[in-house]
Amino acid sequence: MAHLTLGIETSCDETAAAVLEDGRRIRSSVVASQDLLHAPYGGVVPELASRRHIEAIWPVVQEALTRAEVSLAELDGIAATSGPGLIGSLLVGLCFGKALAFACGIPLVGVNHLEGHLYAALLDHDDLSFPFTGLVASGGHTHLYLAAAPGEYRLLGRTRDDAAGEAFDKVAKFLGLGYPGGPLIEKWAQKGDPNAVRFPRSIPPRGSYDFSFSGLKTAVVNYVKRSAFSVQRSDSSSLQPSVFSLQPVLDPALMADICAGFQEAVVDVLVRVSLAAAKASTSRRLVLAGGVACNGRLRSECAERATGEGVQVYYPTPSLCTDNAAMIAAAGYPRLLRGERALLSLNADADLALGLT
Ligand code: KG4
Ligand code: ZN
Repeated sequence: MAHLTLGIETSCDETAAAVLEDGRRIRSSVVASQDLLHAPYGGVVPELASRRHIEAIWPVVQEALTRAEVSLAELDGIAATSGPGLIGSLLVGLCFGKALAFACGIPLVGVNHLEGHLYAALLDHDDLSFPFTGLVASGGHTHLYLAAAPGEYRLLGRTRDDAAGEAFDKVAKFLGLGYPGGPLIEKWAQKGDPNAVRFPRSIPPRGSYDFSFSGLKTAVVNYVKRSAFSVQRSDSSSLQPSVFSLQPVLDPALMADICAGFQEAVVDVLVRVSLAAAKASTSRRLVLAGGVACNGRLRSECAERATGEGVQVYYPTPSLCTDNAAMIAAAGYPRLLRGERALLSLNADADLALGLT
């Protein structure tokens, strides 16, 4: 009989649940996004995120069960994200998962969110297997791993400051484009020339796989301030009428070139460092995962450069790159199958690390 895993994910600003059959086949995957809730603030407001998770978690789980045509009694196990992420957000999904597992008398495992992102690629590609080099580039992380075997990970490098997605979000906020910044910058970049403005790239020394994006973000801000800056009074209905909004007023063509130049610099660094790590590995397989891996320019550039380097690149489909619960169920499934059981005392950990450093 098929093994049915319920995945639950609430580490940041998406409330997600999914039902997976035998760890591979997605029977349902439901994601309730909070983007509109956080958009006015240009980033996730943790307290608002936790409250919305509380409202959404049960309807989202019910919807996942309905779409999968599975009843609670038919579930074999539950996999819930236990970290890393926003502590208030994590607690909602994990406590819900624990309560449901207890009530249904079925096992539960806590899953590392970053491991989930890596498993998203395995869900999508039957020909992908361990070992592989895996980049998780999201709003909170830019971590490069050697994924040796299920549950065996070694951190090869990470960002020393901003995550790649965070850089997209902060630059988009500065440019007044909205939130989340990645898709908005990508859209503007399509109309621009990636070589019109060359922004600096932080390339680590040979043998290091660390990233850095805060210098690039500052370079964009300084470039915009130099080229076209106008200080406007903020909207009179604002709660802080005396505050000046520092929204740059840019000519659309220049905006497009800046977005294209910024995106090109992020993509160049991510591709160069990840490919260098994949080339140094025995498997020569590279997985790009996390929300930033939705980026079309990143996907095409990496695929093109990888061919010349003898590296095979895998990306999940965009809906599996961004936060979802199918990837959490996929990562939890082998552990449930091995008989692993979390105690009800399992706690969420905002800084939960994945693998050895
Ligand atoms: O993995 P994810 O959904 O959530 C986290 O775990 O953080 O990633 C969200 C991040 C955001 O920073 C968002 O701006 C970025 O992924 N992102 C993108 C694109 N789509 C989402 N960045 C660049 N290009 C995109 N198309
Ligand atoms: Zn994520």
